[in-house]
Amino acid sequence: MRTLTVLGSTGSIGTNTLDVVRRSPGAYRVYALAARQNVDLLASQILEFRPSVAVVATSDRINHLSERLAASGLDRAEWPELRSGAAARVEIATANEVDTVISAIVGVAGLEATYEAVRRGKRVGLANKEVLVSGGRLVMEAVRERGAELLPVDSEHNGAHQCLRAGNRGQVAKLILTASGGPFRNTPKEGLTFVTPEQALNHPTWRMGNRITIDSATLMNKGFEVIEACWLFDFAPSQVDVVIHPQSSVHAMIEYSDGSVLAHISATDMRMPIQYALTYPERCDAPVPKIDWSQARQWDFAPPDMEKFPLLKTAYECLEAGGASTCILNAADEIAVECFLQGRIPFPAIAEVVRETLSASAPSAPRTIGEVLEADRNARVLARKFAEVSAARAVTV
Ligand SMILES: NC(=O)c1ccc[n+]([C@@H]2O[C@H](COP(=O)([O-])OP(=O)(O)OC[C@H]3O[C@@H](n4cnc5c(N)ncnc54)[C@H](OP(=O)(O)O)[C@@H]3O)[C@@H](O)[C@H]2O)c1
Repeated sequence: MRTLTVLGSTGSIGTNTLDVVRRSPGAYRVYALAARQNVDLLASQILEFRPSVAVVATSDRINHLSERLAASGLDRAEWPELRSGAAARVEIATANEVDTVISAIVGVAGLEATYEAVRRGKRVGLANKEVLVSGGRLVMEAVRERGAELLPVDSEHNGAHQCLRAGNRGQVAKLILTASGGPFRNTPKEGLTFVTPEQALNHPTWRMGNRITIDSATLMNKGFEVIEACWLFDFAPSQVDVVIHPQSSVHAMIEYSDGSVLAHISATDMRMPIQYALTYPERCDAPVPKIDWSQARQWDFAPPDMEKFPLLKTAYECLEAGGASTCILNAADEIAVECFLQGRIPFPAIAEVVRETLSASAPSAPRTIGEVLEADRNARVLARKFAEVSAARAVTV
């Protein structure tokens, strides 16, 4: 039986993780759950999975969570310990009772707890891509030093992980990551100025949290995945290609030196890669739809348009630049996406705010997670400034 901490239990990946747990009675015990503010869902998860600890982002949320638990009628003696804040997230990710951590908080808020889990040698199922985008060097150094198992949950990296098992790492030529192309794949560049948050949130193939859905529409998400892949599998940026594949059935391909290409194919259901990370190296029946090969189907592949979606190119440039560049990229993008979702800046301004923030940031090479978080904070201040300018410009126009 595996004992789990789920960081980000109320999100898209978190709820899918708990569904895998629900469908495998006796295979997992949930030690701890962490969320930010969704106490209604967290309370119902507590009632169902009976963790020992539940963590929310701030202390006022503990009061709200207590009210929900009291209203549920759960005997106080059965309540989990209720905690809040970053230190509590680290404690539940490193507790002796825990062998596996699912890292599914969105954003850099998940970095410290994930890093500390790795340093304790836990198995980490990694969904939170900001962990490697912001702190890739430090996290991978810790993985190597501690012999931790970092198993990718992101479907593309999970697919690559599976394809890499088929051959010798020294004979791998390149990794090809697929991208759906997002909702604006066929929108002319000029039309992007007028797209709304509602349109951008309408992802053609996946149901995910808001940030990653907007990042999929700008192709920033694919840029983050290129960065994540380079850290996870030790690829040079030039060895990772992106190809647009609107059907999202092929998730990743590995090209070996003899020209053979192995592809990972599955239905678009995150419970498969989550379960893979939990059961690796074994495979078990997964509660996911299977591809119906009796139906005729067509799969398309095309190169990405880096001019229309410049953030993908920016991601490669940041990887080459090294240091804190990818951390700044992530922080600036998070702020710009937030402003776009609030309707304050137009869609193309997301890329502008990111590029302006990168140009204005002093180069640095963080040596600790604290320094990564500092670079992240500084970039956010700059990005907010550039977003304000962009918002004012949008109002004037
Ligand atoms: N969804 C996917 O299919 C998918 C696929 C690949 C990779 N990923 C990556 O996985 C991560 C999670 O994505 P998602 O789609 O599941 O996001 P999501 O639905 O927005 O969920 C985010 C989770 O993080 C929690 N959270 C946010 N800030 C927090 C904080 N400061 N402290 C504690 N918890 C916090 C949220 O809690 P509240 O609900 O209380 O706010 C929620 O549980 C992202 O990095 C994303 O890029 C997702």
